[in-house]
Amino acid sequence: RTCSLLGAPIQTGASQPGCLMGPASLRTAGLPAALADLGWAVSDLGDLRIPPQEPRDHPNAAIHNLAETCAWIEVLERAAFDAASAHDLPVFLGGDHSLSAGTVPGLARFAAEQGRPLFVLWLDAHPDLHRLDSTDSGNLHGTPAAYFTGQPGFDAYPPLKHAVDPQNLCMMGIRSVDEAEHALIKAQGIEVYDMRAIDELGVMKPLAGFLDRVRAAEGMLHVSFDVDFLEPDIAPAVGTTVPGGATFREAHLVMETLGDSGLVTSLDLVELNPFLDERGHTARLLCDLAASLFGRRILDRMTRSY
Ligand code: ARG
Ligand code: MN
Ligand code: MN
Ligand code: MN
Repeated sequence: RTCSLLGAPIQTGASQPGCLMGPASLRTAGLPAALADLGWAVSDLGDLRIPPQEPRDHPNAAIHNLAETCAWIEVLERAAFDAASAHDLPVFLGGDHSLSAGTVPGLARFAAEQGRPLFVLWLDAHPDLHRLDSTDSGNLHGTPAAYFTGQPGFDAYPPLKHAVDPQNLCMMGIRSVDEAEHALIKAQGIEVYDMRAIDELGVMKPLAGFLDRVRAAEGMLHVSFDVDFLEPDIAPAVGTTVPGGATFREAHLVMETLGDSGLVTSLDLVELNPFLDERGHTARLLCDLAASLFGRRILDRMTRSY
């Protein structure tokens, strides 16, 4: 099977600079070789770039870097569509989480051309469900999930070509939710397993239920992995740490189970800020987690794990 790596050094959606170095850090930590060692044919497509942008204002004065973010969305939407056309499992190396406002719509457009629905598994401390008029921080990495599910109020973003059905979105690891996001989760009935749900149920039960839905619908499955999904003690290299995240074991179990399912058709690795890392530990952990999704196992199992 084939996979591709595509870097998107985008940091204009984050609260502080550094995500620009994310793709280089993941490559330095050995991601291409780790996936190749597992038997995948790996094509590294290098990094995308955008031309310099003139600043653009928005009625919500908190918003910054609107022009850059929109340029990235347009470039990424096309690149994600093309990557999905060419490879079994494209991986998008961020870059901050505004990346997903480009990758997910491009993948949704590809899935629609195949006559299949796109499902999205959002692994994150945050739901990133702000509309442009509801974000107080103005950090646009807080908006992609609202945009790609087709919420109103995104006139300033590129027109959305294909929305993801909010019913096909599942979030895990959530533990920092703003009021407007909470209202949207309730109004749209989005499937969210917050950290309390994971404390109560573990990761397997919610994940297996979601994967059963994907399989039954013959869906494509995009996994969007934000570094702050993880407990900050094991993954310090992110600008928006929130205590009480997924443990090392929980995170690997999620990724192994995703790999076993054979359902994953694309992956975002986002919000890695190498400037905040400790001797590359977070970048290495992300590579190991990706390897778990791509099939690395401690021992072979006789039975499927879900
Ligand atoms: N909800 C907060 C905000 O809108 C935090 C968003 C964090 N998002 C992320 N992709 N790290 O500013
Ligand atoms: Mn996020
Ligand atoms: Mn987050
Ligand atoms: Mn906010």
